Amino acid sequence: YGTQNINENGHLTIGGVDTVELANSYGTPLFVYDLELVRTRARGFIETFQKLGVKAEVAYASKAFSCVAMYQVAQEENLSLDVVSGGELYTAIKSGFPAERIHFHGNNKSYAELELAFDTKIGCIVVDNFYEIALLKEISEAKQQPMRILLRVTPGVEAHTHDFITTGQADSKFGFDLNNGQADEAFQKVSDHEYLQLLGLHCHIGSQIFETDGFSLAAEKLMQKIGEWNEKFNFQCTVLNLGGGFGIRYTEEDRPLEPQVYVEEMIKTVQAYCAQLNLTMPEIWIEPGRSLVGDAGTSLYTVGSRKTVPNIREYIAVDGGMSDNIRPALYDAKYEAVIANKANDEKVSTYTVAGKLCESGDKLIVDAPLQSAESGDILAIFCTGAYGYSMASNYNRVPRPAVVFVESGQHQLAIKRESYEDIVQNDLPLTIQKGE
Ligand code: LLP
Repeated sequence: YGTQNINENGHLTIGGVDTVELANSYGTPLFVYDLELVRTRARGFIETFQKLGVKAEVAYASKAFSCVAMYQVAQEENLSLDVVSGGELYTAIKSGFPAERIHFHGNNKSYAELELAFDTKIGCIVVDNFYEIALLKEISEAKQQPMRILLRVTPGVEAHTHDFITTGQADSKFGFDLNNGQADEAFQKVSDHEYLQLLGLHCHIGSQIFETDGFSLAAEKLMQKIGEWNEKFNFQCTVLNLGGGFGIRYTEEDRPLEPQVYVEEMIKTVQAYCAQLNLTMPEIWIEPGRSLVGDAGTSLYTVGSRKTVPNIREYIAVDGGMSDNIRPALYDAKYEAVIANKANDEKVSTYTVAGKLCESGDKLIVDAPLQSAESGDILAIFCTGAYGYSMASNYNRVPRPAVVFVESGQHQLAIKRESYEDIVQNDLPLTIQKGE
């Protein structure tokens, strides 16, 4: 993946930096991000739109992985941002990210979160439900401040990796149903408001998708509705946001398309509709998360204990686990790995990589083909850049790992490792008197 290589010592390198040295100097578990690969992915999306002459915003879905330095990389690469909470918004603003390129998502944004969005003057709020419309009216009127909005709709298209399902009514906690009048009602509620400026529609049909059909079908459904509102109410749609979900290759079984292909297909569909309905081509916004940072991230662990279950399997245990990567336990997600200090050796062994958390389901990889492993080896698990650190927890009071960025032989700490002090910093001593 990206700038990965093997050096003269047989060590895995990323961005020209020896991962074994990174493990030694920063400790393990450690997330290593290949910034060059993040930049390549970002440019891939942006240049596709440019080549086709379509106005666009490529918003990084920062739930995949965020921190101040990551937001700064996103800014350098001219990405916009999708944030989904006050915490992500606050971090983005702290990092100096231009507020006008921030889009705010969420199915239950609080009054305080929405106020923060107004006060920081972000570019757009993606409105999810009727309660939110009421809050937005109240806040914008109180502040006498305009806000650009998109309506999030559920088109009844749901994509899962290779196939998609279409339903008349989507059973989703997100958005206004496109097919049962909810979206029309939301349109009526916001369309002539003094401060809310409706730009267009948003949908997100799923994650880790390998085909373009679901996106095309969703685009078609949204464009039909836009055409209908144009005809009935002379609505001018300026933005169509088709969400994220572009798949990446975790293991050999995954066969994603080149990211550009998804974009080209979406554009074709929308252009065809605009021609047919005589509409102006809207800007196309997308929200890739995983496909920007997923394969740029590698987790480094130190191998500790081992256990043989005779005739069944051999376990090697590492110094992290479901606390820094919950995806295998939660989604049965699959990964590939290598022993970073023996990267040139043949993969002659098969190990199940166990985490150190007190839960038998805490296994990072089941039956991984690997180089023969000993305690003290450094294990590298690939493609952990999305939804790894961002979903990390302190289960078992395990401190969260450090995150390091590498590029062209340079490395820097992007997030410090948590300490035991950090772990207890919000704890307060018992003051309630024990009863008799
Ligand atoms: N836009 C919206 C509205 C979303 O809900 C999501 C992801 C994205 C964009 C970005 O999707 P991506 O390009 O990263 O697939 N924790 C799960 C994935 C949850 C995705 C949630 N929404 C996992 O680890 O697979």
